[in-house]
Amino acid sequence: MAQHIGVLTAGGDCPGLNATIRGLGKAAREQFGMRVTGFLNGFRGLALDQTVDLDDQMLSGILTNGGTILGTSRDKPHKINIGGKQMDMTDAICDCYRKHHLDALVCIGGGGTQKNARRLMDAGLNVVTLPKTIDNDIWLTERTFGFDTALEIATEAIDRLHSTATSHERVIVVEIMGHRAGWLALEAGIAGGADVILIPEIPYDIEKVAEAIRQRTLSGKRFSIIAVAEGAMSVEDASAIGTMVEAKAAAESKKERQEISTRLRAYHKEHLGHTIRITEQLEQLTGQETRLTILGHLQRGGTPTASDRVFATWLGTECARVLDDKHYGIMLAYQGGKIKRVPLEDVAGTVRLVPHDTPLITAARGVGVCFGD
Ligand code: F6P
Repeated sequence: MAQHIGVLTAGGDCPGLNATIRGLGKAAREQFGMRVTGFLNGFRGLALDQTVDLDDQMLSGILTNGGTILGTSRDKPHKINIGGKQMDMTDAICDCYRKHHLDALVCIGGGGTQKNARRLMDAGLNVVTLPKTIDNDIWLTERTFGFDTALEIATEAIDRLHSTATSHERVIVVEIMGHRAGWLALEAGIAGGADVILIPEIPYDIEKVAEAIRQRTLSGKRFSIIAVAEGAMSVEDASAIGTMVEAKAAAESKKERQEISTRLRAYHKEHLGHTIRITEQLEQLTGQETRLTILGHLQRGGTPTASDRVFATWLGTECARVLDDKHYGIMLAYQGGKIKRVPLEDVAGTVRLVPHDTPLITAARGVGVCFGD
């Protein structure tokens, strides 16, 4: 009997989702004779049985489109807002999966989606995941689609900021997405020729950043570009967070752990907008006019780059092959130029941060970039 496959996109969107859905859908249908059903708005659509038939018509003309034809949400199977209440919908999801006689479910998403897919795997569903995110921070894969497009957008933004910073002899701070990882800021900073790059993995001392700007001024360079990852942290903030994380690991009761998690969440929430503080501090410390640009969701919108389209198509079509093999409980990861099948349990819950010994940091330091350390 022909296999019936369910597919959903969950978490924040990114360019390349439609190219992946198209690659998966076309290969599954045309090469392997499968039926493919899309579930709308992430895990919510699976809980509420909201579907769309991914037929030839639906899969056509979407390769270059940004966003996702399936819609997405940050709902988790065990925490879905139904009528203003957070409900555990895991059983409803399993019922829906069985009602449709699905052979497998493909979850396309970021770090959170890997964890949620693993929960569904533990609940007995056949799951395969495909990693996506502009943050490039998923464990065990060297690449996620969406990253290349976001990198192009952020780099172009830095290029454009250069000319206005030069004209006005200003310092311009540019905030770049990436969640708790610094990949996007690091690579866009290098590609755009930023003078300072601040990433979460290297806590910064604002005085050292100011000194780097002063030195540039002394050498006749009257403008500076400071690329800051949204998750970058000062030495003081990093130490406060480190203390909380250690306390959480040592906590003996669930209640204590939950309390620390709540405090950590509040801290991270307060941290949003920290680039406003950096901008003010730098203006004060250097005496130079300073401006802030927050790139935000611009980095996630619009058409994917050629490279992301190629990679997404490869990932989607490879996924169809995996489904034909009936190989479940895995994520498809890019490693050493190949797409490999890695156990979901090895991925879920771990974030891929920028290692201190990456050649990218060495290269950036080689051209005089200051990391604030
Ligand atoms: O994970 C992708 C991402 O764009 C992060 O870089 C960012 O921190 C987050 O999503 C923003 O999420 P939202 O779209 O929910 O504001």
